[in-house]
Amino acid sequence: MTQPARMHDVPARMHNVTDETRQIVDLVLDYSRQRLLTDDNPLDKPLPPAELARLAGTTITEPGIGARKALGVFEHVLAPACITTDDPRYLSFIPSAPSKAAAAFDLVVSASALYGGSWLEGAGAVHAENEVLRWLADEFGLPAGAGGVFVQGGTLGNLSALVAARETARDRGIRPDRWRVVCSAEAHSSIASAARVMDVEVVPVAPDATGVLRGDAVRAALAEHGDSVFAVVATAGSTNFGIVDDVASIAEATREAGVWLHVDGAYGLAAMLSPAARGYFGGVEHADSLIVDPHKWLFAPFDACALIYRDPELGRRAHTQHAEYLDTLTETSDWSPSDFAAHLTRRARGLPLWFSLATYGAGVYRDAITSAIDLAARIADEIDRRDELELVRRPQLGVVVFERRGWEKADYTRWSNRLLDDQHAFVTPSSHAGRTNARFAILNPRTRFDDLTGILDTMR
Ligand SMILES: Cc1ncc(COP(=O)(O)O)c(C=O)c1O
Repeated sequence: MTQPARMHDVPARMHNVTDETRQIVDLVLDYSRQRLLTDDNPLDKPLPPAELARLAGTTITEPGIGARKALGVFEHVLAPACITTDDPRYLSFIPSAPSKAAAAFDLVVSASALYGGSWLEGAGAVHAENEVLRWLADEFGLPAGAGGVFVQGGTLGNLSALVAARETARDRGIRPDRWRVVCSAEAHSSIASAARVMDVEVVPVAPDATGVLRGDAVRAALAEHGDSVFAVVATAGSTNFGIVDDVASIAEATREAGVWLHVDGAYGLAAMLSPAARGYFGGVEHADSLIVDPHKWLFAPFDACALIYRDPELGRRAHTQHAEYLDTLTETSDWSPSDFAAHLTRRARGLPLWFSLATYGAGVYRDAITSAIDLAARIADEIDRRDELELVRRPQLGVVVFERRGWEKADYTRWSNRLLDDQHAFVTPSSHAGRTNARFAILNPRTRFDDLTGILDTMR
């Protein structure tokens, strides 16, 4: 009669501390240790689906293939098919460059089985996350009562803030036929995505010739659409150019109209920490809500967006989920992060940033951000000097956009593919006003001037 014993052993195999468990943990930690302590990881590149399927083989089987083999598939097949986003020559989209402390601490967050949704279950983690949110709120000039939550990314942060804004307008008794949100025509695509989810209309307002949205243009849109506008979004660092809207004049317009001001600083608001860029961000202190993504320019691993409300109660009113099984949590005044966004279960994803900030101190962050801004200005000057290249706009923060005279879209695509095939760099083409261009998004402190001139040399 061995059957009952086996029935009890098998389920516990995955959870008990056994010799097998020790081997698995050692394997995984050894791999992680090596990855974290190597600074010349290859750039790598994707493979076609059929090629990956052939190389990886079947990994999910009834008896399992074992940790050693599974990790081998990851190390030799899967990981090399993922572009190394913290490579200093990864300059596409918005890169990610987690600090070593933040990346290492991410392992601790997983190892500790933390629940970051409620104070009841995760008070210690929530306390530390809130200290980071408080510090950010102070940097941005928000009042002492401001607070919020770390959500998955800027898209969810923008959506959650806009839902709170509309709920607040509804609470004031406004009932338009159609709700509207006003933003720059150069605002991030996540604003349109939020509008689709919320079934509201986006009113895109043209920025000036330098890409800056200004209060006068917003005022005109507010006059045209009246009460139907429940929020205005100012972009603090546009994705394509890193340009900061004139938040101060936009804030004047929203104050006059009594409309919610949301600041989308997913990429750029981190630059407010740098004395070199602080001047661009006047008016942020008037925001009703704002976001900044630590997985972008605050050197945290994917995925984390800090969403902060001027009055967190407005976020709580819009988002708290109610159910019999949640009454224990919601019938208290505890600060539960789940209450402040469109989510419930959550990883304590602010902790890697907390650990890194506590470890290195805020000053290192300011210096790292400043050095990226300086590097962007230097490479812009270099582009100006090269006859075959032309800057599209002078950079404010860390995004440098330029054209290669005489190139068409196909030339940029060929050039970009070759850079990746040669494992030289990852620079995808972008476009503006119907013209293809090249774009460096510079934020990794390991990116050097020579890395960038080396890439420019390939455009001769
Ligand atoms: C200005 C801006 N807002 C929002 C987002 C969306 O953030 P996420 O990709 O984290 O959802 C981005 C992403 O690049 C961004 O640059």
